[in-house]
Amino acid sequence: MTQITITIDGRKVAAEAGETILEASLRQGIYIPNLCHHPDLKPMGACRLCLVEIEGRKSLVASCSTEAEDGMVIRTKTERAERLRRLSMELILTEHPEDCSTCWRYGSCPMQSLLQFLSMSTGRMRNHHLNYKKDTGNPLFIRDMSRCIKCGRCVRMCKEIRGSKALDFIKCDNGELEVKNVWSQTELDQCKYCTACVEVCPTGALRDKEETFKFPEQYKQKKYASCRWGCPAQTDV
Ligand code: FES
Repeated sequence: MTQITITIDGRKVAAEAGETILEASLRQGIYIPNLCHHPDLKPMGACRLCLVEIEGRKSLVASCSTEAEDGMVIRTKTERAERLRRLSMELILTEHPEDCSTCWRYGSCPMQSLLQFLSMSTGRMRNHHLNYKKDTGNPLFIRDMSRCIKCGRCVRMCKEIRGSKALDFIKCDNGELEVKNVWSQTELDQCKYCTACVEVCPTGALRDKEETFKFPEQYKQKKYASCRWGCPAQTDV
């Protein structure tokens, strides 16, 4: 692997050619806020929380989807980067419920931790939250689309890693992308019942039904290893 040298916040660090700025930075212990990034998934650049400045470039870039280049000088804590990051978070919060303290994910929610990191308790636009009915069609988990921030981690996990089409985006009438909120038999047939999507969700949008779960027929017949994603192991029970 070819080694390159970059400078992050005044500190010279080694990076590997092909690595993104965010990956190199996190590996060196320099934290850049991020939410849609996941080390096992291809970058999507959806949340815009990882914005950084690069010397010589006018626009800020998403560090999760920008490759580090030898000699690059990166600044993660400039006034502009921090302001835009907070704005991105406010936009995410616009449609998010305000009931963190009663959310099942309270205390273990990456988004909540990030809010604390950014010293944000509530956004000034946090008043248009969506009120979707909870989707209980999948036997393993409940989906609460009111809490979905469209980071695409569940969809990418399902498609890229598990090779399934149970989860996907759909285009709404207003042109926005949504994670589809319907469990038809077609989706259930595609689902591998691995709950990897639940594990990567950074909010309370996906919840394991564990306690009340009743095994459906198709799960009884085939047992999918409860892998940390990517494991195609499948054994007959
Ligand atoms: Fe880079 Fe979301 S982590 S855009």
